[in-house]
Amino acid sequence: MGILLKASKVTKKFAGLTAVNSVDLEINEGEIIGLIGPNGAGKTTFFNSITGFYPATYGSVTFDGNDITHRTTYQNCKAGMARTFQIVQPFGQLTALENVMVGAFNRLESYSEAEKIAREMIIFVGMEDKMHAIVADLTIGDQRKLEMARALATKPKLLLLDEVMAGLTPTEIEETVELVLKIRDSGVTILMIEHIMAALMKLSDRVIVLDHGTLIAEGTPSEITQNERVIESYLGSAYKKQD
Ligand SMILES: Nc1ncnc2c1ncn2[C@@H]1O[C@H](COP(=O)(O)OP(=O)(O)O)[C@@H](O)[C@H]1O
Ligand SMILES: [Mg+2]
Repeated sequence: MGILLKASKVTKKFAGLTAVNSVDLEINEGEIIGLIGPNGAGKTTFFNSITGFYPATYGSVTFDGNDITHRTTYQNCKAGMARTFQIVQPFGQLTALENVMVGAFNRLESYSEAEKIAREMIIFVGMEDKMHAIVADLTIGDQRKLEMARALATKPKLLLLDEVMAGLTPTEIEETVELVLKIRDSGVTILMIEHIMAALMKLSDRVIVLDHGTLIAEGTPSEITQNERVIESYLGSAYKKQD
């Protein structure tokens, strides 16, 4: 198991604001890493810096052995990085199948091949009954699953999930937990931002915590839920020890 992604001192500034401040992170192949922190902590911006959406102001990123610090999102997708968006970004007037085909065209040129992969991915996420639905008509839960299917259709090595459980029902959250495990078991490494703590702690091999752009803690789920600084800045009193 090698290191798949290595972020070194990744920093992103917007005018006067340092949204991500010198973050170091190594992700091993096959891991599920949870990324938590208060709203505005810089979690999504960290994703954007890694993927090339907003290139880092400072620092470097290597992926699968290559320096990708200055690469575009398109190049990174080709290299095996895919993501979902906190606010879903579907092609609303296209069908579910067509949306996922867009992902498949990352590696394929043939329409029929892309359609085949897209079908497989829609079945993989459990949406075969909605294959030809117009995406704007789907529930948020289905739109989020579809975003995962579209990302998976690009055939990633690393999948970045930005709050894929937000707005889901408890049943959908359970299904998503199972789906994330199934994705990992299929050989994909996962970095996920999530506020649904029970689900995140269940899934993550390691959890990292951002606060005001700075990485304040890193550890196993049980270490993180007992970390005083993380409790103060994010988890809140529900996790405080009774004394
Ligand atoms: N494109 C942008 N331009 C200016 N400021 C931004 C931009 N994107 C994010 N920010 C700011 O960066 C900080 C971190 O935001 P974000 O990464 O979205 O946090 P999180 O995902 O942890 O809630 C916030 O203060 C936010 O307002
Ligand atoms: Mg965010």
